[in-house]
Amino acid sequence: MTLHSVSESGVDVENCADINWDELGFSPVPTDFMYVMKCAKGDNFSEGSLVPFGNIEINPFATIINYGQGIFEGLKAYRTEDGHIVLFRPEQNAQRMKMGADRFCMPYPSIDQFINAVKQTALANKRWVPPLGKGSLYIRPLLMGTGASLSVVPAPEYTLLVYCTPVTNYHKGALNLKVESKFYRAISGTGGTGGIKSVTNYAPVYAATTAAKADGFSDVLFLDSATGKNIEEVSACNVFVVKGNSICTPEANGAILPGITRKSIIEIALDLGYQVTERAISLEEMLDADEVFCTGTAVVVNSVSSVTYKETRTEYKTGAESLSEKLRKILVGIQTGSIEDSRGWTVRID
Ligand code: COI
Repeated sequence: MTLHSVSESGVDVENCADINWDELGFSPVPTDFMYVMKCAKGDNFSEGSLVPFGNIEINPFATIINYGQGIFEGLKAYRTEDGHIVLFRPEQNAQRMKMGADRFCMPYPSIDQFINAVKQTALANKRWVPPLGKGSLYIRPLLMGTGASLSVVPAPEYTLLVYCTPVTNYHKGALNLKVESKFYRAISGTGGTGGIKSVTNYAPVYAATTAAKADGFSDVLFLDSATGKNIEEVSACNVFVVKGNSICTPEANGAILPGITRKSIIEIALDLGYQVTERAISLEEMLDADEVFCTGTAVVVNSVSSVTYKETRTEYKTGAESLSEKLRKILVGIQTGSIEDSRGWTVRID
């Protein structure tokens, strides 16, 4: 069912699904369609199609569920101020999926195939793109080994599945982070998988995040596994540290996910005249910063109000005057069309 024109709250809900958009969170809402494309080992992906959204059938011996042969992406479709629907830098997600597919010995869709699959999914679920100001349509492309194997070898068959759900913010408000000193997110250096969006990178954070949340923290900040001295990443987003005019973020050295929001925020901050460096950042340096913030497709730009390391809690600047808020507004402005997209980051799909 679709609604018409303008709701009582003044939100333009034309062509939007009939749900209470003010109650949107960050959890799966079943939408209408998903996109499926299959490919045998050694072949290239060719034709895919939209099918009704729903459960999938999978061989119990599929390598995704036994050996973790899977990578995913996350990107969003937004309604713009002039009433169109856009994607944000989808070619970047396609390139990152290729990197992960190479690492996990999987065939991958071409950039055009990836963007086409994402576009078709977003358009088929157009009524689930939230009204402007209420959120976005989070699109999840998942590339997985769906062929059966008992041996630890690449699957004989692969599936690209693209599905979506309307979302709003991942976290509510500024973050209170706990520094994790027992578990690591990724092994240091280029030999591990921290730098790809592998399905295997996420469940390992649960032990730390579950314990931290039980103690009232919003999320966990992980340290590098080689020295335990440098900050790396939060469970599902990148981290930045601000001191005066200088902004630093851990370099994408194989252990850090090369985030697309991270990359975009670096470009925006450079344009604003900040000095931006990608390098190792010690915990000590972060505890002496003015501001800390996180970036990611899901979290967008989220300021950090405190970081707790062992028994010491350090507080940071947040709020309307913070740099992270300024950067967030510019990014969201570009994504929703209130700020001119001079870099050609948005792709109109309707
Ligand atoms: C994203 O920001 O798109 C992510 O992939 C984070 C997700 C694990 C919630």
